[in-house]
Amino acid sequence: MIGVFDSGVGGLTALAALRSRLPRADLCYFADTGNAPYGTKREEELCRLVRADIDRLRGAGCRRILIACGTASSIYDRLPVGYRLHTYPILAPTAKRAARVTKNGRIGILATEATVRIGALAGEVKKENPSLTLFPVAASPLVTLVEEGHTSDRDPIAKRAVREALAPFSGCGIDTLILGCTHFPRLSALIRREMPGVHLVSASEEGARALIDALPPEEAAGGARLLFLKEPSGEESPVKK
Ligand code: DGL
Repeated sequence: MIGVFDSGVGGLTALAALRSRLPRADLCYFADTGNAPYGTKREEELCRLVRADIDRLRGAGCRRILIACGTASSIYDRLPVGYRLHTYPILAPTAKRAARVTKNGRIGILATEATVRIGALAGEVKKENPSLTLFPVAASPLVTLVEEGHTSDRDPIAKRAVREALAPFSGCGIDTLILGCTHFPRLSALIRREMPGVHLVSASEEGARALIDALPPEEAAGGARLLFLKEPSGEESPVKK
């Protein structure tokens, strides 16, 4: 079984990407809603929470785990080695894609406060190509927006919040924008409208793709089960077969 976790609904965008490409795999999702949001927390606390999330999913029988959260992936290198075994952070594949698709070498990063502060995503992009120019912007309020269900491109609250969050990119001349928080693909329609012609790179999509590439074929097929773990440590609820 493949585990997927995030602080909330954001990781569902990665779960959907896994589900569509691996329709027969057994998938298990955990949203650490009791400790959300992650994006405003310090590194030490994030390390503690991420370890607990991995323990929780391993305890439910997950052999491989997608860290479907840009913030949680930002502290991946600080995790003890046992927690880095068969767990997949989403930043490196996202950085790789962004470095590949940019034509003018100017890349925006839209992510949580913690992801921008820690700088691991920017570091991964620079590893790909040190000459790229990066414009990181923290947009943690968009996480709350998505958690509250304001995602429609007709929602005036969402429209205003997205416009405000993207304002710092004006005049930067970026041709590529990394959605470095897995909540943000839910706002893709609005972001596209505000930034026409800018290539969006989703950490959810790229992270899911990287895990699939690393998956041994025998683990790609199972009973097509979809489980959602309850917070804080209740029973599992089978949702779909
Ligand atoms: N979805 C998470 C991420 O990708 C973070 C949201 C939060 O702040 O909890 O960064």
